[in-house]
Amino acid sequence: MTLGMAGRPTARIEVEGLTLASAAGDILVNDVDLAVSSGEIVALVGESGSGKSLTALAILGLLPRGIMWRGGRVRLNGTDVTGLAGPHASIRGRQIAAIFQDPQASLDPRWTVGRYLTGQFRRYGATSQRAARAAAVDMLARVGLGDPARILGAFPHELSGGMAQRVMIAGALAAGPQFLIADEPTTALDVTTQAQILDLLEDLQADTGLGVLLITHDLGVVAEMAQRVAVLYGGTVMETGEAADVLGAPWHPYTQALLASMPDLAQPAPPRPISGSPGDRLAAGTGCPFQPRCRDAIALCAQRPPSVVVSGSHRAACHRSEPRLPHGFGGDKTQPQTSGYPLPAAGTSSAERRHVG
Ligand SMILES: Nc1ncnc2c1ncn2[C@@H]1O[C@H](COP(=O)(O)OP(=O)(O)OP(=O)(O)O)[C@@H](O)[C@H]1O
Ligand code: SF4
Ligand SMILES: [Mg+2]
Repeated sequence: MTLGMAGRPTARIEVEGLTLASAAGDILVNDVDLAVSSGEIVALVGESGSGKSLTALAILGLLPRGIMWRGGRVRLNGTDVTGLAGPHASIRGRQIAAIFQDPQASLDPRWTVGRYLTGQFRRYGATSQRAARAAAVDMLARVGLGDPARILGAFPHELSGGMAQRVMIAGALAAGPQFLIADEPTTALDVTTQAQILDLLEDLQADTGLGVLLITHDLGVVAEMAQRVAVLYGGTVMETGEAADVLGAPWHPYTQALLASMPDLAQPAPPRPISGSPGDRLAAGTGCPFQPRCRDAIALCAQRPPSVVVSGSHRAACHRSEPRLPHGFGGDKTQPQTSGYPLPAAGTSSAERRHVG
């Protein structure tokens, strides 16, 4: 048995060929492969509508009504647990926990924090109400909420957004899960609170050896926190690999475009928005979804692109087999450019980076 961080056995979620469709038959997530091991943070990034949340919900077996499973499987430590149904239902919460974008909406407005958290600890093994309350107090302190006795008596509307997300994280960790799926956990929060919640997640991940699937729009967060990344567009993985490789030397025209669209105070050039909108895409499965917005497109792009090995685990789905000049479109292609995200300096803690930048 391999032991990971915090002395726990190494665990792994593998998603293979995940394909989801709407009731009308539109492919929304197309042949997505993804893996998360304990002790690592894997980021899933992409514009709105790219299929990030559906991928997460598919792993959790919580697909909304009207979304059809067309193919693929989910394995946990080698066992097929697709849909987390039947004997695998208890994996949700116990081994794979989740937090979402709007923590206030996730809490029952009629329940105090104490009722919610003690319920979580009772469900996951506390043998008495007293033990559950003691565990809740400990966990509130661990997620950075001082005065736990007061917080336990509070209703959700009495909490700030940041406090509510800390409560959700406390509830998610009640069972001591191996994995946490965090679907844009800071999008609804102000910038300072975002940084605090991300620091907390990173600290908890380091302390417990959790595997985290972090869904975000923010490539800065990916650069600071994630070891690996998958970039989605139109329900399809466009580029994947070590975060340092994908963001430091983006290969795929979409990743390059996404990076070029981000403001970068270190560069004199203003950000360049990606032409068109995320809704401009070829139907998944018919060709490269990015084709309508890609200035590198060729006739072949109307067919499904192959997976190009850039190096090691760094892969891109594109018909162009030669690395192009950074950003691939819009710029002067005769001039060398630098395009990678300004990656953090080695030896800098991400907490420092977030607060310095
Ligand atoms: N219940 C549903 N019924 C039909 N289509 C849906 C449903 N939920 C999502 N979709 C569609 O599936 C696609 C992927 O949606 P998803 O919510 O996964 O995107 P996302 O990447 O999480 O976007 P965002 O960044 O806005 O949260 C979108 O085109 C969306 O309109
Ligand atoms: S496959 Fe074609 S359209 Fe898609 S990113 Fe590559 S060059 Fe652009
Ligand atoms: Mg989403």
